[in-house]
Parts: sequence; structure tokens; C-alpha cells
Amino acid sequence: GTNTAPAAEQRDTWTHNTGFILAAIGSAVGLGNIWRFPGVAYESGGGAFLIPYLLALLTAGIPILFLDYAIGHRYRAAAPLAYRRMAKPAETLGWFQIGLSFVIAVYYAAVVAWSLSYFVYAFDLRWGEDTLGFFTGEYLQVGDPEISTTIVSSVAIPLVLVWAAILVVLALGVSRGVQRVNVIFIPLLVVAFLGLVIRALTLPGAADGLDALFTPNWSALLDLNVWISAYAQIFFSLSIAFGIMVTYASFQRRKANMTSSGLVVAFANSSFEILAGIGVFATLGFFAHQQQVAVADLEGLTGPILSFVTFPAVISEMPGGNIFGVVFFAALVLAGFTSLISILLGVAASMQEKFGLGRRTAALAVAVVSASISIALFSTTSGLLALDTVDQFANNVGIVLSAIVMTVVVVWVFRRGEVLRQHLNAVSTFKVGRVWIFLLGLLVPAFLVVMLVQKLITLV
Ligand code: PHE
Repeated sequence: GTNTAPAAEQRDTWTHNTGFILAAIGSAVGLGNIWRFPGVAYESGGGAFLIPYLLALLTAGIPILFLDYAIGHRYRAAAPLAYRRMAKPAETLGWFQIGLSFVIAVYYAAVVAWSLSYFVYAFDLRWGEDTLGFFTGEYLQVGDPEISTTIVSSVAIPLVLVWAAILVVLALGVSRGVQRVNVIFIPLLVVAFLGLVIRALTLPGAADGLDALFTPNWSALLDLNVWISAYAQIFFSLSIAFGIMVTYASFQRRKANMTSSGLVVAFANSSFEILAGIGVFATLGFFAHQQQVAVADLEGLTGPILSFVTFPAVISEMPGGNIFGVVFFAALVLAGFTSLISILLGVAASMQEKFGLGRRTAALAVAVVSASISIALFSTTSGLLALDTVDQFANNVGIVLSAIVMTVVVVWVFRRGEVLRQHLNAVSTFKVGRVWIFLLGLLVPAFLVVMLVQKLITLV
């Protein structure tokens, strides 16, 4: 393959800055905000977690978001080619990031598909009394040796639908596909989610839930793993160091206010995340109240179990629960789908540039390959088990490693920090000081190396 995109081809761009901002928010706001953040915060010190979280946002999240933007906008290509244009050997880093994104896409698509099923089930509370039995038994059919390798159609059908939708959006391209979906879905998501939070706050017991989430456990700050969780959450949540924001920024017009847009995106993402924490825990407070137990005694407060086992149980007990359920799972689908698109656009655009493929061919190739893997993995019984392991490695180890290599390569190996800083400042109204390079070159990698070592020790 050749590495140069056809020079004459007009690069598809976001047609207005709001389009870019909404798409970037669409990528950032996802399952990570709704079912990752609340549980992680609760388990990692509650209110005290906000300190490492905000520090991670300011010292690493926003600086790396700016770095992603700078690379994509200056070198005008998806991650691998953008890095290559910066310095030839750096292309490998781009492929590593795109590889990580691909791994995430495979399980992320499965969760979006489950949410789609549950959106339908919510209308008549199909999950019944035993929500755990329904999810693992009837729905995923985990643990049935007979069907351990066969495809479970209840899962495969929504998966195929999700992948077909992705294919259509990617084939339509950046301005007519991705931007349009985000311009419609993101405002819809915000309205739906605000409705959920307001409803949750009016339920009896809501205040106990908020107490459980926000009561600070200061000693958690002494635990290095809590800090790792904060940084990993920020990276995953902002979609940074995955090559995805590099790709999105590469579709911005040459004159575009990059850093100011970045601040809007980062602020919107964290606001949504904290809002999700409030909504989720107010709902859990109601659940505890119904069962006359303390929130601390509840189980299943994170990840898939939170959304597909605990929430259905709460929804069943709520007056008018089916409306709440429909809106909740619709919100998961909207949030998840817009993030999934960003990941797959990153993968497809990289393939397109590497192999000189057309947009539709690249979209088709990526959709078919990842859909097959998704279906093979997550519509069988071992899928659920795989999810946790994949999340551990891709989201904690992989992404931290990616951020370390990226910052060291840009700042130290190829010394592009100053060039990129000037590039950002030439187009943006919010000017970036030299402290940015200091953070990226010293603080971020030093801190992340310590975290990575610690994480690897706890994993092996
Ligand atoms: N940011 C998304 C979320 O919070 C996930 C994501 C990760 C999207 C990496 C794109 C790239 O759910």
C-alpha cells in the first residue's frame, strides 16, 4: 500500500464548528460516562475521588486532548498517517492506538446492541422479577454448555442492526453522515438525560443515594489505584490517546478554533459525567429505600451488571418505570452509538489512507470484520467473561501505555512540542502556554509510568 492520500481528493470536513464540537462531545460522552464513571467514583473514594479526577482532567486530560487536536489538525490525516507525517517511525504508534480503538469497538458495539434490546424490553418490563437470571440466562444464555458456541439470536440481531447503522453513517462520510447523526443525537441525549435525572431526584431515597456517592472517603487518596482509576477514566471518557481525536481534528477546516473547542468538549463531558453520577445514584438510593437497606449494601453498581441487572430491577419497582426504562436505554443507545461511530471512523479513515481505498470500501471492510468478531465473541456465552478482561487491559494498561509513548515520542524523541504549540496558538483564541509542553513532557509521562508499573504489579 501507499501512504499518501490522493492529493487531489477534497478532504471531507465538518461544515461548521458546532458540528465538530457536537461530534467530539458525541465521541466523549458514551457508556464510559453513564455506566463507568458513577461506579468508579463510588468505589474510589466517593466525593474524594473528585480531587484526583479533576487533577487528571487538568494535568493530563485537557493537555492530551489539545495534543490529539494539534496532531490531527496540523498533519491532516487519521492517526497513523498523521504521526507518519510528523515523523516517519511514529506511524507505528498510530496503528497501536487504532488497534486499541478497534478492540474497544468490538465490545462497545455489543453493549450498544444489548442496550437496543433492553430499550425494546423496557416497554413491557420483559425482564420480569429475576433480572440477573433474565440477563445471563434468557438473554445472553451464559453457562448453557449446549449453546456455548452457537450464536444467540436475541443478541445477534441487534448487533447486526447496530453494525448496519454504523456502515450507513460511515459510508455517508464526515459531513453528511457523522456530523448529521451527532447534531441530532446529542441534543436529544441531553434532553432525555436531564429528564431522567430530574425524575430520579424526585424519587424517595434519592438523597441517600447522593450521600452514598458524594460522602468523601479521604483515605482513598492514599491508594495509588484510585489515582490510576481517575486517569484511566479521564482518558477513556475524553476518548484521548486512542488516535480518535486525532482523526476527528483532521477533518476540521484549516481555520478552526481548536483549543477553545477542546475546552468546551472537556467541560461538557465532565458535566455530563457528574450528572450521570447524580442520576444513577439517586436511582440507586430509591432502590435501597424500597428494599429498606443502605445503599452501601446494594450490589452490582458498575458496568454491565449496573445497566442490565440492577437498573431493570429498579425500573420494575418504579411507578411509571417503563417510561423511565425506555428513556434510559434510549440514552445508552444514543450515547454509545455516537462514541462507536467515532472509533470506527478512526479505524476506517486509517485503512482508507493506508491502502488507498475509497470511503465506502473502507467502511464496508471495517464494518464486516469488526461485526464478525463482535458477533463471534459477544453473542456467545464466553462473551460476558471476555468483556471484563478486555476492559482491564485496553482501558487501564493499553491506554496508559499509549499516552506515555505518545507524549514521550512527540516531546522528546521528535521534539515537536513547540511546533504543535505554535500551530494551536496560530488558529485558536485560547492560547496555550509553555506549561503545556512541561506537562506533556515531564509530569504526564513520569506519573503515568509509576501508575503503569503499579497496575501491572496488581494484575500479575
Ligand atoms: N469516550 C467514550 C465513552 O466515554 C468511549 C471511547 C473511547 C470513545 C475511545 C472513543 C474512543 O464511553
